[in-house]
Amino acid sequence: MAKIALGVASSISIYKACEILRGFQKEGHDVQVIETRNAAALIPPALFDALSGRRTIVELFDDRQPWSVAHVALAKEIALFVVAPATANILAKFACGLADDFLSTFYLAVRTPVLIAPAMNEAMWIHPQTQDNVRRLRERGVEFVEPAGGYLACGDEGQGRLADPQRIIARGLDLLCRGTGLRGKKVLVTAGPTREAMDPVRYLSNRSSGKMGFEVAREALRRGADVVLIAGPVAIAPPSGLEVVPVTSAAEMKEAVDKHFSGADVTVMAAAVADFMFRAPAVRKVKKETLPAGLEIVRTPDILKELGGRKRPGQILVGFAAETNAVEAAARKKLREKNLDLIVANDVSREGTGFEADVNQAVLIDRRGKSRKTDILSKRALAAVIWDAVEGLREKKK
Ligand code: CTP
Repeated sequence: MAKIALGVASSISIYKACEILRGFQKEGHDVQVIETRNAAALIPPALFDALSGRRTIVELFDDRQPWSVAHVALAKEIALFVVAPATANILAKFACGLADDFLSTFYLAVRTPVLIAPAMNEAMWIHPQTQDNVRRLRERGVEFVEPAGGYLACGDEGQGRLADPQRIIARGLDLLCRGTGLRGKKVLVTAGPTREAMDPVRYLSNRSSGKMGFEVAREALRRGADVVLIAGPVAIAPPSGLEVVPVTSAAEMKEAVDKHFSGADVTVMAAAVADFMFRAPAVRKVKKETLPAGLEIVRTPDILKELGGRKRPGQILVGFAAETNAVEAAARKKLREKNLDLIVANDVSREGTGFEADVNQAVLIDRRGKSRKTDILSKRALAAVIWDAVEGLREKKK
């Protein structure tokens, strides 16, 4: 049995929140309802009190609640946070980090998976501002059950109806059962490229977007891990709920990894660390008339190999291999030479997958030599496959 927080905002579809509450209870879960003030004007807390067997929370400062800092205390107790129905207003508040009532303050304190089911008039739903808020929340790992089409309370037809409560319950249960595999585990993930300065203006780098590593971090977070994400320079926003350490060069990444590695149960090196750097970057911009003859290129430290040489028993180390030919053979060699527990190899010469893309196809090879080729998957789905494999290895290590 898990504890679920059910946030309820002031949409006409609010009555469906009762069915959602009941659905989670039928699966044996304990539901704590949180209403916004406007929602409490539509359905008074007493109804939810009776259904949930718990005092519904509306106000941020309520002396009658048994916790001292209720939003933080409750956030630590729950395994899932569902908001259904969610209004355009609550989406905007979550997306901006506004915290002026219990529900929005609670969102910022939550570290578990968040599932939102919006409901509103179609014009409000498709408004670019609302869609922008949804996109920002998605980037931070929030899951959505999108509104359905049909007759709306305002008399219009269109997309905006709260999704079928049974779908919302099913998605919630799905998130819940994936949410505990890494609970209490410390996970270290690196992501993105590194940049090796030639002079104050130019650098050597690669095409890594950081998307794969960010999804790996996000999925670990969803499964309940404490995650540290060491990220090279990327253009995407990191998920919330984890510690982000921004770095630029391979040397900086190594320093950050060294700081966190000993405390990590699982380390995933998804970063595309530049293999070369300038031995002595020029202090001033190199003028084009003077060919940079003195700028010698040397190897960067192989962070992963060095970790493989000093990992302690029980610690799991996962590497990536970006290859353009003989993918599996090259990956097996890296697995062995870097003393890894798992390697995720992908063919970066293929159009449409790998670097910069949203999808990827990989071969996973574990330390026993067992390999598995995935279909073309979203990077999010591939991250789930990787963590399933890691959790499988952890089981066997026990
Ligand atoms: N890696 C690392 N430090 C480096 C280079 C790579 O930690 N200086 C890690 C990457 O994060 C990845 C793995 O090693 O998990 C494999 O990186 P890849 O570039 O594919 O392989 P290399 O070992 O660098 O070999 P090559 O480029 O010759 O294929």
